[in-house]
Amino acid sequence: MNKDAFYIKGLGGEKSLEGELVVMGAKNSILPLLASTIVVRGNVSFANVPDIEDVHRMTEILNNLGATTSNLTGSELKVDTENVHKTQLDIELSKKMRASVILTGPMLSRFGEVKFPHPGGCVIGARPIDIFTEGFQKMGATFSEDETFYTFKVSGSKLKATNIFLKSPSVTATETFLIAAVGADGTTRIENAAMEPEIVDLAVFLRSCGATITGDGTPTITIVGGKDLVSNSTPYNVMPDRIEAGSFLILAAVTAKNCKISNIDPSHIRSVLELLTGSGVPIRVTENSVYIENNTEPSSSFKSFDIKTHEYPGFPTDIQAPAMIFLSQCSGESLVFETIFEGRLNYTEDLVRMGADIKMWDTHRATIKGPTHLKGRELEGPDIRAGLAYVIAGLVANGDSIIRNAYFIDRGYMSIEKRLSALGADIKRKSYSI
Ligand code: EPU
Repeated sequence: MNKDAFYIKGLGGEKSLEGELVVMGAKNSILPLLASTIVVRGNVSFANVPDIEDVHRMTEILNNLGATTSNLTGSELKVDTENVHKTQLDIELSKKMRASVILTGPMLSRFGEVKFPHPGGCVIGARPIDIFTEGFQKMGATFSEDETFYTFKVSGSKLKATNIFLKSPSVTATETFLIAAVGADGTTRIENAAMEPEIVDLAVFLRSCGATITGDGTPTITIVGGKDLVSNSTPYNVMPDRIEAGSFLILAAVTAKNCKISNIDPSHIRSVLELLTGSGVPIRVTENSVYIENNTEPSSSFKSFDIKTHEYPGFPTDIQAPAMIFLSQCSGESLVFETIFEGRLNYTEDLVRMGADIKMWDTHRATIKGPTHLKGRELEGPDIRAGLAYVIAGLVANGDSIIRNAYFIDRGYMSIEKRLSALGADIKRKSYSI
């Protein structure tokens, strides 16, 4: 079997990259949007869709259920779920991607039954599904499990509208109940809901198909369900990927002299902009771009800062690993407190091998002292976000790095080697056999 790796020549702390990084549509928006098409009649069309592995996995799952999806051409994707007939999610496909769990909402809403495998714990943490089970039970579904599948079944013919209080503001649980509630007659209120912009994007799309939803982007979302949703013929434009935007900003801060990061909504990355600007990164913000300009001082002139990951609008857990590379180049000591996932600091072992001065205090807290000269190493991407952090580390380092298991990076970032090469980076994709 062959896998891909990225071969990177480090810049040794030089800031020589220049150009523009155009941010793609958001992975964590298109995945729930695609899942929601199960409850939308007609041919649904999305624009600004990133050509990434997770989008391919989600379309494969939909196709396996009986949907028709077009090829992803020029960032436009069409989906028709009229012929979906199965109520069981494919085991192998679903396990590859935690976001497959979102399909439980629309499937249960449309068919009154869904069978799915555990969507998988992963290296970033245990990732339980208790919030899903509790919420669906409140909506009138029964829950059972055997060695292979979980099953939710609606006792009456339809899910019940109700009030659901999330014991923690899970992003995908909020999205799942939002889609499910659209099909339940009456008013559903999701309280302590997640407020991430991807939830707003989903609500905007569902409203464009006729749903009545208010309060998205706040902790209380109200859905008046029971209407049939019908696709409106104009393609729905997926919001820009705020995680890519924030991560690219960090990448540019430590490797680029001048860089424009475009097709973004800067209001989505306020927490990142605030910290980087305070640290001394020369940033100019416009309506839909961020520029790093005349970034000629060595990164050791940047001041360190502490990070505490938090639900939106706090500092995103998905930008924690790239930020760690930034902090390895700043002057001073920082505390990185990962509050969302307990396994999301494990990658720091590899950074220590590269020469970073990091001490883990427990599974949630690490301190890092900078500046350090990172050395190129052979690494294996452990998850999507740490994978990109390794690319940034490889670019900053002295010497060559190889980042194996490029698949993780490809799950979330489209053609990263081409986009970074266009700025002058020396990064190549090569396959290797395992
Ligand atoms: N949680 C539970 N029970 C549940 C569900 C979640 O205890 O039933 C806990 C989790 O274990 C975690 C916390 O709630 O400690 C928050 O997790 P959440 O459910 O919000 O995460 P998620 O919805 O599974 C999404 C993103 C992640 C991102 C997190 C946090 C998608 C498809 N995934 O995951 O993105 O890190 O929110 O913002 O939207 C990634 O893109 O690489 C990624 C991991």
